[in-house]
Amino acid sequence: MLTTRMTELFGIEHPIMLAGMNWITDPDLVAVVCNAGGLGVFATARCTPDEMRENLGMIRKLTTRPFGVNVILRAGAPEKIKVAIEEKVPIVNYTLGKPWFIDQVHAYGGKVIGTTALAKHAVAAAKLGCDAVIVTGHEAAAHGDKATSLVLIPIAASAVKVPIIAAGGFYDGRGLAAALSLGAEGISMGTRFMLTKECLLHENFKKLCLAATEQDTVYDTVFDGMLGRALKSKGTEAMQKRGFPLVEAFKAAGQIRKVLKLTYPQFIAMSFKMMTAGEDSASLWAQARQGAGTVRAMKGIYEGDLEEGILYAGQAVGGINDIPTVKELIERVVAEAEQTLASLHSKVRKK
Ligand SMILES: Cc1cc2nc3c(=O)[nH]c(=O)nc-3n(C[C@H](O)[C@H](O)[C@H](O)COP(=O)(O)O)c2cc1C
Repeated sequence: MLTTRMTELFGIEHPIMLAGMNWITDPDLVAVVCNAGGLGVFATARCTPDEMRENLGMIRKLTTRPFGVNVILRAGAPEKIKVAIEEKVPIVNYTLGKPWFIDQVHAYGGKVIGTTALAKHAVAAAKLGCDAVIVTGHEAAAHGDKATSLVLIPIAASAVKVPIIAAGGFYDGRGLAAALSLGAEGISMGTRFMLTKECLLHENFKKLCLAATEQDTVYDTVFDGMLGRALKSKGTEAMQKRGFPLVEAFKAAGQIRKVLKLTYPQFIAMSFKMMTAGEDSASLWAQARQGAGTVRAMKGIYEGDLEEGILYAGQAVGGINDIPTVKELIERVVAEAEQTLASLHSKVRKK
C-alpha cells in the first residue's frame, strides 16, 4: 500500500491517475481505473455540455469512487465547468488557461488540479488555489513542453507546497518510485493506460505501440498547431511532409462554429475577441488547427487508419510490451514501486 498526500487528498487507494485523454477516456475506462483504486479522469474535449452530463451519469452508474473531469479552458469551457459544478464532480482538472471556478468547486467539497508543463505555471496554479498540480515533462504524449520529467519535477516540487502529480514518461513501478523520489506524490499515466484491455484504442495502433521503441515518437507542431508528441506512423510522416493541412483547419473552424451554435457575425466577433484577448485566450485559428488534428486522431483511435490517422503517444511506448487489464496494471505498478523503494537501500554498497 503506497499512501501519499495524493491518495489522502482524493480519497483513493493508489497514487496513480488515469490522465485525461480526449477520445480515449470513456466512462468505462474511467470507472475501471477508479474501481481498481486509482483516479480515473474523463476528458471532456470531445463533448458538448449535454454529452458531458450524460457521460458523468454513465461514470456514476459504474463506480461510486471519486473521479475527475479534464476540461481544456478554450471556447466552450465555461459551459462545461458549469456542468462539472452542477454535477458536483469530485475532481476538476483543467489545462491551458486560468481557472475562475476554484472557489465554486471548493464550495461543494470538490478539488481542483491544474495541469502544467512549466515550473512557473505550477507555482501560479498553486497560488490561485489549486489543491494539486500535474507537472508534465517533455516525454509525454500530446502537449509536454521542453523540460523532461527528470528535470522539471524536482524544480516544481521545490517551488510549490501542494501535492505534485508527475506526468510524462511514467509506465511502471520504477517510474512511480522515481517520481516519489523527485518530490511528486504520485503519477499520471496516459500512454500506459491506452495499452490496456479495457481501452478502446484500435488494435492497429495498439500493435504499432507495442512494436515501437522509445525513439519512435515525433514532437512537432504539425498535428494541431501546438508542439505535441505523437507515435511515429505513416500518418505522422505524411503530415510532416505535407505541412499543416490548411483545408482541414478551415473545415474544422466551420465545425467549431456549428458546435457553438454561432451565427457568422457572432463567430467573427468571437474570433476577433479571442485573437485580441492576450495569451490566456486561445485564438479561433488555434482551435481550428486543433480541430484538424482531431479529425486525424479520431481516424487513428476509432478506425485504426494507419495511413491517415495519428495517435498522440509518449516516449513510454518504448517500455510497454503488453496489454494487461487495468487492475493487473495498477497492482503491478504499485507492487513494483514498493519493491523498488525497498531495494534501494540494499543497492547502495556500504563500506
Ligand atoms: C490520445 C491522447 C489524448 C489526450 N488528450 C488530452 C486532453 O484532452 N486533455 C489533456 O489535458 N491532456 C490530454 N492528453 C495528455 C495526457 O493527459 C497526459 O498529459 C500524457 O498522456 C502523459 O504522458 P504519458 O503519455 O507519457 O503518460 C492526451 C494524451 C493522449 C495520448
